[in-house]
Amino acid sequence: MQLITTDFHSHILPGADHGSEGIGTSRKQLDIVSSHGIKRIVATPHFYPTSDNVKLFLERRSECARVLKGSMREGDPEVLLGAEVLICDGIERMEGLEALAVEGTNCILLEMPMTRWTGRTYDTVEAIASMGFDVVMAHIDRYDPKQIDELMRLDVSAQLNPGTFFSRKGRKFAAKWLEAGRVAAIGSDLHGADDKGYGEFIDAGRAMGEYASHVEKTMEELLSGAKAL
Ligand SMILES: [Fe+2]
Repeated sequence: MQLITTDFHSHILPGADHGSEGIGTSRKQLDIVSSHGIKRIVATPHFYPTSDNVKLFLERRSECARVLKGSMREGDPEVLLGAEVLICDGIERMEGLEALAVEGTNCILLEMPMTRWTGRTYDTVEAIASMGFDVVMAHIDRYDPKQIDELMRLDVSAQLNPGTFFSRKGRKFAAKWLEAGRVAAIGSDLHGADDKGYGEFIDAGRAMGEYASHVEKTMEELLSGAKAL
């Protein structure tokens, strides 16, 4: 039995970001996703606070979603609308932040910067977590484990990308946070129509072993109330 049927993190909206240049790619992405038994996928286009604003982002996202919806057919996974919000100092005060949560939920996917994190970086995450959001930190496996130790002291949970399960060090890292019950989600972070890469996401779900059903359940809880396209 396949325990993971939800993909929490993906770039599949046509033209919304570099994940899909148009409907041809998005259509292939949906075919790949459904062929691997995934029933629900959260579309999380990048939101970069320094070069975008919430109103324009939402307009763009809904236009891209409209195009995708027009090509959807039976057997496709449910598509939910979210965002992958890059943490920049002070964005807790950004107007419209709540609209970047997965539509119909309080769940927001935050991405830490690849630059060095300062006290302000952590403070920003903490401030967002205190605003009533269910905060999920995107692909915590991508960063310095010492910094992640610090980050996970906050009231947030984690999302893993599949790559972490394909090295010994990565598996150890994932096991630590799975055992601690702090992994709420797994996502393919799908960019482009890569069937092999998507197979790795499914394999990663299996590699979670006994924790897969817990992660599937927490994703379900975080997404309850979300309306599919
Ligand atoms: Fe992503």
